[in-house]
Amino acid sequence: MIATFARSKRLAQKPAVSRNTNDKRYKILETQMKRYQFKQDALIEVLHKAQELFGFLDNDLMTFVAQQLKLPPSRVFGVATFYHFFNLKPKGAHSCVVCMGTACYVRGADKVVAAIEAFAGIKAGETTPDGRLSLATARCIGACGIAPAVVYDGAVTAKQTPESSLEIVKGWLSHGS
Ligand code: FES
Repeated sequence: MIATFARSKRLAQKPAVSRNTNDKRYKILETQMKRYQFKQDALIEVLHKAQELFGFLDNDLMTFVAQQLKLPPSRVFGVATFYHFFNLKPKGAHSCVVCMGTACYVRGADKVVAAIEAFAGIKAGETTPDGRLSLATARCIGACGIAPAVVYDGAVTAKQTPESSLEIVKGWLSHGS
């Protein structure tokens, strides 16, 4: 309780969001909020979209949502921690989010997912038993021009193939880094 209060206080004191302005996922999230007319009642739906785009809700992301919806950050943090379906950090040491939106799908995103699933022995949405890798899928992350796009540990990466993905994932799983 005290820890939660302290954390929400830290969020509340944060002056501005230090976000990567090149990250189109923020733009998509903003468009989604616009669709809800920035209504504060849409907070849960907006957080769902944020998690779908980013895989989890970190402090910067929650602060961004709070600013956009003109809500106290402590309220956003409170909602995100109350519902078990929101993740506040990636479950695995590394995260791999494969975009399965139409542009990525038609260029083979499903094969990328299948290759990682087969290699890591997990399904999308799961984390390896050793906690090293979380695999997730997302709908369009706003990078259709570089489809199929995969987000490795938060970095959007262009034109992925099963081979290029496995190279990264194998590196993570075999080097233990
Ligand atoms: S469909 Fe994958 S980035 Fe748009």
